[in-house]
Amino acid sequence: MADNRKFIAMIVSEENGKFIRRIGEKSIDDLPAGEVLIRVKYSSLNYKDALSASGNKGVTRRYPHTPGIDAAGIVEESSDRDFKPGDKVIVTGFDLGMNTSGGFQQFIRVPSDWVVNLPEGLSLKESMINGTAGFTAALALFKLESLGLVPSNDEILVTGATGGVGSMAVAILAKAGYRVTASTGKTDKENYLRTLGAKVILDRKDVDDPTGKALQPTRWGGVIDSVGGNTLATALKYTKYNCSVAACGLTQSPLLNTWVYPFILRGVNLLGIDSAHCSMEIRELLWNKLANEWKPSALDLMKQECTLEGLNEKIDAILKGKITGRVVVDLE
Ligand SMILES: NC(=O)c1ccc[n+]([C@@H]2O[C@H](COP(=O)([O-])OP(=O)(O)OC[C@H]3O[C@@H](n4cnc5c(N)ncnc54)[C@H](OP(=O)(O)O)[C@@H]3O)[C@@H](O)[C@H]2O)c1
Repeated sequence: MADNRKFIAMIVSEENGKFIRRIGEKSIDDLPAGEVLIRVKYSSLNYKDALSASGNKGVTRRYPHTPGIDAAGIVEESSDRDFKPGDKVIVTGFDLGMNTSGGFQQFIRVPSDWVVNLPEGLSLKESMINGTAGFTAALALFKLESLGLVPSNDEILVTGATGGVGSMAVAILAKAGYRVTASTGKTDKENYLRTLGAKVILDRKDVDDPTGKALQPTRWGGVIDSVGGNTLATALKYTKYNCSVAACGLTQSPLLNTWVYPFILRGVNLLGIDSAHCSMEIRELLWNKLANEWKPSALDLMKQECTLEGLNEKIDAILKGKITGRVVVDLE
């Protein structure tokens, strides 16, 4: 039976080689097949969404498209008995917002094995302050800890620290008892980073070694990097014996030109972080941690809110590295 219920969505379309974003109307029938129809209350903006919204075919192959890799809302209909109307749920990653119509609209329909129940201790809005950024930071810490990291006096470096993943990493590490050193290009954000829990703030130039040397004196007990490129290569050179670097992102560069020496002379580990395809078992475990022992006290400080109408300018800003913290999109 046709379902013509209408709702509001961001629609990105390709017109004469240009990508145009507009806010328009869609109906339930426009959504892809899936077991769970969700009334989206909040979404959030991630760097990947901005790529999708500006025509990056590595993220989204087909347009017109609705981006949004994150969504939190209420189950409207479900053909899977694990979910029932009224359940509060979160969807992040998998193919949401990439080639599957995403969270920048008032309804999504997705496979039930993408859906996580909202854990106790988090509101729907708080889950989207975290969003993929918080989940990625949590996955990075989880992997670092699985290789032996524990709180100590060692400094843990977070790069791109005022960004989404960076801000969440600083706050989660601090909440978990680590000594955080944050590097940033936004030197006027020192107070912000200190309030999130960073003890030392560095200019991003200080963690981007131009010398070409293979190794540098050790400093970091662990690293969460969302920047990639020479900053990631630099982090490896300064990492202590048998410690680990979690590679999350590429805002500086997707290329990694590095030496083998940190790995074979210092036992340094380079950990790959892929939040999109993380197993459901780890997904649920990490969302529970984000709702409890890793829930930052300064969650609200990281948040700026906008509606679908205001999202356009935030997308342009995140592409220029100009967003501090997290943008929550209110779809109510
Ligand atoms: N692996 C995963 O599963 C996963 C999940 C989420 C995101 N990511 C990736 O992680 C990265 C960050 O995502 P996000 O959503 O947190 O983006 P974001 O909010 O824009 O944060 C990125 C930050 O990187 C820094 N930066 C920007 N341009 C830079 C440059 N040229 N050189 C050095 N630093 C630069 C800026 O921080 P400062 O101004 O503080 O230096 C910026 O705020 C992206 O590459 C994204 O694709 C990966």
